[in-house]
Amino acid sequence: MKILLVGTGRVAFHLGHAMVGANHHLIGVVGRNTEHTDRLSKALGTVSFSLKEALPQTDIILIAVSDDAIADVALNIPISDAVLIHTSGASDLDKLLPHPDRAVLWPLMSLSPGEPMDFKHVPIVVDGNTDRARQVVRYLAESLSVQVSELNHQQRELVHAAAAISLNFPLHLLARAQDLLKDQNIDPAILLPSFLAMAQKATAIGASEALTGPARRGDLGTIHHHLDRLTADAELRAAYARLSSMILRAYGHPDHGHTDV
Ligand SMILES: NC(=O)c1ccc[n+]([C@@H]2O[C@H](COP(=O)([O-])OP(=O)(O)OC[C@H]3O[C@@H](n4cnc5c(N)ncnc54)[C@H](OP(=O)(O)O)[C@@H]3O)[C@@H](O)[C@H]2O)c1
Repeated sequence: MKILLVGTGRVAFHLGHAMVGANHHLIGVVGRNTEHTDRLSKALGTVSFSLKEALPQTDIILIAVSDDAIADVALNIPISDAVLIHTSGASDLDKLLPHPDRAVLWPLMSLSPGEPMDFKHVPIVVDGNTDRARQVVRYLAESLSVQVSELNHQQRELVHAAAAISLNFPLHLLARAQDLLKDQNIDPAILLPSFLAMAQKATAIGASEALTGPARRGDLGTIHHHLDRLTADAELRAAYARLSSMILRAYGHPDHGHTDV
């Protein structure tokens, strides 16, 4: 099957390399910025197209652009036999209207600039509005990863929210915790080995079992000392108190309302 890749950002970069690695016939990269488009098409050994020019006939058009741009980009692509696929976990298939065969291929992974990622164990969520769209997107996803699942839009929204909680929040809290140390000229990297070990332990024994710390133990005294240390940052102090309260209750400790600010 011939594939046209629309987009030149992080997902286009990683999926593009994964598709080339899986020996797919990538017939071109389509973008709005010539420099970005040429750079990616060259790296993938294919050719560039502008979003404004006529596009070649293809079996799949994979649209990896920002969520807010998907509908506009799809609307400006002439209707053909191609299956249109977007890569957004937060977007429904209607964003690809009026194309008849619409699908999603959502890699459940935080993709950043750097070396191309090995997609083999990246979970990929797929869905389609017709049997043909579902078949095509599943075929493509299974050629890239061994972890492919089919979820409808409501389920994808829930997974997207769960991913935001489990990925974005810990990283933001890590950054805020490192800022506290930087302010006191303490090396923020001191937190990193335990952060890494935490993810490994959660994978090995489960998140609930891996959790340690004063709230899990029910050490209210230590929690109050920490809260006293955080008076300069009311927002972080409130987050600390609320999360401690959630953990205390989850592990069967009374928090007497002291930490729930
Ligand atoms: N990054 C992740 O971790 C991740 C993971 C899974 C799924 N996704 C999904 O994948 C999609 C792409 O995300 P990304 O992280 O690759 O984004 P990104 O790195 O910010 O790249 C966005 C791409 O969209 C293009 N674009 C933005 N507005 C446009 C417009 N109005 N018209 C045409 N092109 C436009 C940009 O073009 P220019 O180069 O010209 O700016 C760029 O190529 C999104 O739907 C996102 O939800 C992302």
